[in-house]
Amino acid sequence: MSREQWLFTYEGFEPAREGLREALCTLGNGYFATRGAAPEAHADGTHYPGTYLAGGYNRLETDLAGRVVENEDLVNMPNWLPLTFRHEGGDWFDVRSVTPLEYRQVLDLERGLLLRTIRFEDAAGRRTRLEQRRFVHMGDKHLAGQELVLVPENWSGRVQVRSALDGRVVNAGVARYRQLNGQHLRLLVAEEVDPETLLLEVETVQSRLEVAEAARTRLFVEGHPAALLKTLLLEEGFLAHEFIVTLAKGQRLTVEKVVALYSSKDPAVSEAAMEARDALKTAPGRFEELVATHVQAWSHLWRRVDIELELDGLDEPQRVLRLHIFHLLQTVSPHSIDQDVGVPARGWHGEAYRGHIFWDELFIFPFLNLRLPFLTRAILRYRYRRLGRARQAAREAGFQGAMFPWQSGSNGREESQRLHLNPRSGRWVEDVTWMQRHINAAVAYNVWQYHRATADSEFLYYYGAEMMLELARFWASLARWNPGLGRYEIKNVMGPDEYHTGYPDRPGPGLDNNAYTNLMAVWVLCKGLETLHLLPRERRAELIEFLRLEDSELARWDEVSRKMRLVFHQDGVISQFEGYERLQEFDWKAYRARYPDIHRLDRILEAEGDSPNRYKLSKQADVLMLFYLFSADELRELLERLGYPFEPEMIPRTVDYYLRRTSHGSTLSGVVHSWVLTRGDREASWRLFNEALRSDISDVQGGTTPEGIHLGAMAGTVDLLQRAYTGLEVRAGVLHFNPHLPQELKRLKFSLRYHKHWVEVELTPAMLRLTGLWSPLEQPLEVCVRGECLRLQSCETQELRLA
Ligand code: BGC
Repeated sequence: MSREQWLFTYEGFEPAREGLREALCTLGNGYFATRGAAPEAHADGTHYPGTYLAGGYNRLETDLAGRVVENEDLVNMPNWLPLTFRHEGGDWFDVRSVTPLEYRQVLDLERGLLLRTIRFEDAAGRRTRLEQRRFVHMGDKHLAGQELVLVPENWSGRVQVRSALDGRVVNAGVARYRQLNGQHLRLLVAEEVDPETLLLEVETVQSRLEVAEAARTRLFVEGHPAALLKTLLLEEGFLAHEFIVTLAKGQRLTVEKVVALYSSKDPAVSEAAMEARDALKTAPGRFEELVATHVQAWSHLWRRVDIELELDGLDEPQRVLRLHIFHLLQTVSPHSIDQDVGVPARGWHGEAYRGHIFWDELFIFPFLNLRLPFLTRAILRYRYRRLGRARQAAREAGFQGAMFPWQSGSNGREESQRLHLNPRSGRWVEDVTWMQRHINAAVAYNVWQYHRATADSEFLYYYGAEMMLELARFWASLARWNPGLGRYEIKNVMGPDEYHTGYPDRPGPGLDNNAYTNLMAVWVLCKGLETLHLLPRERRAELIEFLRLEDSELARWDEVSRKMRLVFHQDGVISQFEGYERLQEFDWKAYRARYPDIHRLDRILEAEGDSPNRYKLSKQADVLMLFYLFSADELRELLERLGYPFEPEMIPRTVDYYLRRTSHGSTLSGVVHSWVLTRGDREASWRLFNEALRSDISDVQGGTTPEGIHLGAMAGTVDLLQRAYTGLEVRAGVLHFNPHLPQELKRLKFSLRYHKHWVEVELTPAMLRLTGLWSPLEQPLEVCVRGECLRLQSCETQELRLA
């Protein structure tokens, strides 16, 4: 296996691309994450160092043109990176003021390391070699480390090394948010613990989250502890150890900085600062030892999650896919289990969308369900813990059951911003994306799919069923009977396509009968009813009693699920919402000619004084989400239940109709479109898959990736290989395959977990090989491949020829 497929290598320093590299080279372990900023860097327009604690939120108010808005942000925590040097009396190292002879940055996905090598010559003709290594420990979630190696190539002299903790940071990583208050931290403690250890403790001003960082710095010359002069520098919110070392030409100076990070929300702690100090006392003495245990933790994870591809000699897709898996696991890992976190849409990699949790989990869980299902379970409990809030929100909005927020943060309150800045026009615009009630279908779908993949009846018993029932109740209460049509309707919502927020000729936001929302509501109602039958009698009785579910209410769920309204165009294509057909066609050609990038047509049109609401155009898949989430059989069942005709031929027509009217203003869009084309147009699907692979590495949305990666698209691309091209479905306890490999894909190999069976899957155009790796169960795994069924035992391999 080529090592190249594990390495992202960047040659040369490119200031304009630094923000993107920082986001893509973020290191994290599910507990905290640190952007790949250079250790000598400050937030200066080129660089943006950021360290974020999973779920580390704080709320602040800002007065915006006479209106007070409150936002909950993922807080940028003190920067533990600063580790730099200078010639005594000279300027601190800055790559921009020397002549680089060599500059390389490497992200090693296999080992979870960020490496940087620089050779440079300064104005005095001194040539120096620097090597840096960094990790955020995947085994011990509180630890991180950095190593700096400095070799004078043609000089001897005194160097000053500075190792610091910087608590003066604010949230300023997203230009659009800079008018908003970003001062989240208050200093608690800044002190020297012992001659090699510094401690900084801060508190978030509203949520009162205490975060402590301790840093231990050790210097070695030629591998031996260095004799040195040391001073302590203390400024408000900033403290540093400065060392002076004398180096002879060719001598190797190694500086090791090990950091411990704790918060007052961690389980099993007394007080964060004390824990951070203690952690460093017991942490292994040498950097190498920490690297070894970190690499080992990653290797154990990779065994469970890797997907191997063979692609006509191309390394890039394999590498990008691993990058996607890597960032997913840096955002949620086994360490998330005790953390009470959801999966943030943009990772803990930056400040975009403020670390909030959206519906993107819908794109992320399928990967986790079949690899690390205990992670999905933990993350679903993030929602369960906020069920009370969701009940309250439903009640306050005049509905029943539970209504989860479109954007969720600390306590499950609706965190969607009410105003957003259009950077094109400079105007603050009303933001009504909170009207996306379909998040409540996504939560139910996620609970259901988790159960389907794991048969974890205990989860359903204690948590899942209650959520399913409260969500079904919510959807039933949202539906209103239209006696004229003899149908139920859902009005005043938004679908996934965020370009449509309302009608051009109707005051106020909201759309009626969004097809995705209505059909998902039907699905949730059906599954709500089914959930009751999955429960043992006594639990069913308990929940019916506790939730006061009357027979009449269940009868209404059934009725709504049979009489929900869907709107169709004249030619049978499902209408995105009622009235969509009456909107104007959009002049794509003219806009493509006028603007180099039309991903964000909402911003372009608003800046022109126009609105996407007037046109037949979408930011992202909306109706087509239905073909993404449901198989043709499942869709047929749903439509037949509603008494609408289902013609299989309607699927490609609908896909074609909306695909031609989509700007892909969300990175999720490419994933869905690639998916829905897997059967009908493999070439187009593969093209879109490859575009989705480039979403983040090439920052296709033009500047959004530096603010945080797009985790839904990342996980979605992996899932495309795992499920779409293999035709993998889990149904009624049986694992189904119906492979449809794109021509370019010669081999695919991965392992998955299904109902406690751990199976290795290897697929080529000609065969499918399955190996039962392990299972605690007596009964074999049932697998069907295009209708041909087999039973697979542990430690057994079976191979099927594919026609
Ligand atoms: C998309 C949403 C998505 C959110 C977070 C938006 O741009 O339109 O569907 O949930 O980003 O990723």
